[in-house]
Amino acid sequence: MTQIQMESTVPAAVQTAAAPAPVIEMYTVNVKILRFNPETDRKAAWTTYQLQAQPGDRVVDVLNNVKWYHEPSLTFRRSCQHGICGSDAMLINGRNRLACKTLVRDVTKDGGTITVEPIRGLKVERDLLVDMEPFFDSYKAIMPYFINESPAPAGERYQSEADAERMAHSSNCILCACCTTSCPIFWVNGSYLGPAAIVQAHRFIFDSRDEATQQRLNIMNQNTGVWRCRTAYNCTEACPREIPITQLIEEVKRAVMYQQA
Ligand code: SF4
Ligand code: SF4
Ligand code: FES
Repeated sequence: MTQIQMESTVPAAVQTAAAPAPVIEMYTVNVKILRFNPETDRKAAWTTYQLQAQPGDRVVDVLNNVKWYHEPSLTFRRSCQHGICGSDAMLINGRNRLACKTLVRDVTKDGGTITVEPIRGLKVERDLLVDMEPFFDSYKAIMPYFINESPAPAGERYQSEADAERMAHSSNCILCACCTTSCPIFWVNGSYLGPAAIVQAHRFIFDSRDEATQQRLNIMNQNTGVWRCRTAYNCTEACPREIPITQLIEEVKRAVMYQQA
């Protein structure tokens, strides 16, 4: 049998020195979760779990840790875990955020506490899980699909760069509901379509290829539409996609006023 001998290129002095073990910084974290079980509880109550987390872990990792190793019944939504699907919006330390885009070190320090509650203004089904149906009813109300009855061109429906720019912000929305559920107008009047639905309406109203602008402006002009907004900016501050929501709402208001986008 042929034996292959490998000659080391590492100097002898280095070979004998033990490689230092990597130091992994760990925090002790108290995760205080507002929990509710509709089968046994009359109202929600706080439960605190203490665990170890790396400062660079995300809050969703911490919640997974609680669920997988401490409390399997903990209920919350998450899917992509990379800020794309919009399913893990929750109130973290009193602010609407995506759990998968929030780092532990940004919301607590070693020995500190992270509070986690369901987003507000929607019925809590269990723990951090809310009924999203009213939110998606508002979304459906703005006709969130491309409408163009003209004969299709032979190739693509082109759009200039300038036209694409007009809907660039609104097309970034991932329907996470962070904005709508931080809006005080939505909390007191659930019939308000809310900032997320208006952002989605903006996306189609300012799409130069869409032909249903007038219909959507009419929807925005109803008493459930843009005029309910009091320009309080909660929504803009809550958006994990940094969409300038209040500015887009103002653009829709102007379009309604002048009846054109
Ligand atoms: S700016 Fe308008 S939509 Fe946004 S939080 Fe304030 S009232 Fe609600
Ligand atoms: S506008 Fe922002 S906060 Fe509102 S649903 Fe879309 S991504 Fe979420
Ligand atoms: S799990 Fe998809 S956005 Fe957080």
